[in-house]
Amino acid sequence: MEIKKDSSKIFRNIFLKDCYLEIEGEKLLDGSIRISGAKNSALVLMAASILSEGQVNLFNVPRISDVLIMSKILIAMGINIKSNSNQLKINTKEIIPPSQELLSDLFNALRVSFFCIGPILARFGKADIPLPGGCLIGSRPIDEHINSLKKLGVIFKFKDNYLSAEVITPHKRLVGSSITFKCKSVGATETLVMAASLAEGTTILNNAAQEPEIIDLANMLNLMGARIKGAGSERIKIEGVKTLKGCDYTVIPDRIEAGTFLIAAAITRSPISLFPCEPRHLKEVINKLEACGCKFEYSKQLLRIIPNQILNSVNMNTSPYPGFPTDLQAPFMALMATANGTSKIEETVFENRMNHVKELKRMGANITLRNNVATVIGVKNLHGTNVLGSDLRATAALALAGLSARGKTKVRGLEHLERGYEDFSNKLRKVGANILKKK
Ligand code: EPZ
Repeated sequence: MEIKKDSSKIFRNIFLKDCYLEIEGEKLLDGSIRISGAKNSALVLMAASILSEGQVNLFNVPRISDVLIMSKILIAMGINIKSNSNQLKINTKEIIPPSQELLSDLFNALRVSFFCIGPILARFGKADIPLPGGCLIGSRPIDEHINSLKKLGVIFKFKDNYLSAEVITPHKRLVGSSITFKCKSVGATETLVMAASLAEGTTILNNAAQEPEIIDLANMLNLMGARIKGAGSERIKIEGVKTLKGCDYTVIPDRIEAGTFLIAAAITRSPISLFPCEPRHLKEVINKLEACGCKFEYSKQLLRIIPNQILNSVNMNTSPYPGFPTDLQAPFMALMATANGTSKIEETVFENRMNHVKELKRMGANITLRNNVATVIGVKNLHGTNVLGSDLRATAALALAGLSARGKTKVRGLEHLERGYEDFSNKLRKVGANILKKK
């Protein structure tokens, strides 16, 4: 299916605002859940396809609204995309430098679109692109992206609502450099890996983020002819090459979706298997769930969780990979709300990622919040009610709380949920949850 240009402003499924998940809680789950390709890998692999002179065929791409928006961004740059179920065929033969007017709505809808600045500068030597907005979970700055690209020979001019960037080296080509990030940033690391792949000379990234999605990006770029070593460690070396060809590439399983469903199993005290899943991408999550009283069985890419009937409270603080992922902080808090004892949950990555607390409290959770530390005293039962998810992971957390709550829960905020979870409610219904998407 050809994805058509769409100049309309309807990028966020606004019709979903009238929809909700209706969940009858306290149902025991059983069976196996299929894990989709990783949202936070697929999106950056799509951005990386801008670097290719050939065709990039991506497999195991999740069918989520963020992928649709990223597709529209690439199409706005003259790239041809054919989508068939979980495959994307991306051909950059007719690529053109993007204009900020064309992209402004799209870029405002999707922060990861800003990561395209790396590949665009690498290919065209200049970029006029909209500034990414902040969002509910934080200001989402881009200083690490900007300061690092400057070291590769880029100057920036901030216009009223977009950024004009230009490569000012003698050959108008990015030049390799040694860069040390001030903080661990997934996006800045990915932007620089992509930009440096076509730079003249060698780039060293120190204090690089280590998420599995960065390894996935480096693996695909190396298949395209890039020369990247050390992805997944704090020091990445990129030897720039002149051009990059096309490739076939399969996206890794989504560790955050897998972690979300592990917590669904734990919060309903149900044995569930996940496939395909990379347990090594979930080490800290598995550690915390084991500490609560869950057991695990592993075989190849199948992971099975067997929760005890009584789960103990454990303390947790989020941190960059390999620490506990910030994207699972809200789901984990929902679990701790039903555990035995008191836990302290600290969010250290984003400054405002506790919007789910007030909604969990409306379901009977006993949580007090000071700065970014939540003290959660487990209760025997949450009770169903109408709740509103404010972002992707908060909405997922409320749905998990609904699975465990006594009575009926209606969860609104599906326009967030569908950004990052493919077929969320059907996957849970298939393992016995009483969950329906309604209007
Ligand atoms: C990526 O966002 C993920 N998104 C996020 O997932 C994830 O929560 C985040 O990494 C952290 O793991 C995608 O990969 C598309 P960061 P990113 O740059 O790259 C600060 C989800 O729910 N920072 O690693 O935007 C920033 O303020 C989403 O799937 C700077 O200070 O996050 C934050 O405190 C949400 N300056 C910290 O670094 C910068 O230039 C981590 O942000 C950039 C970031």
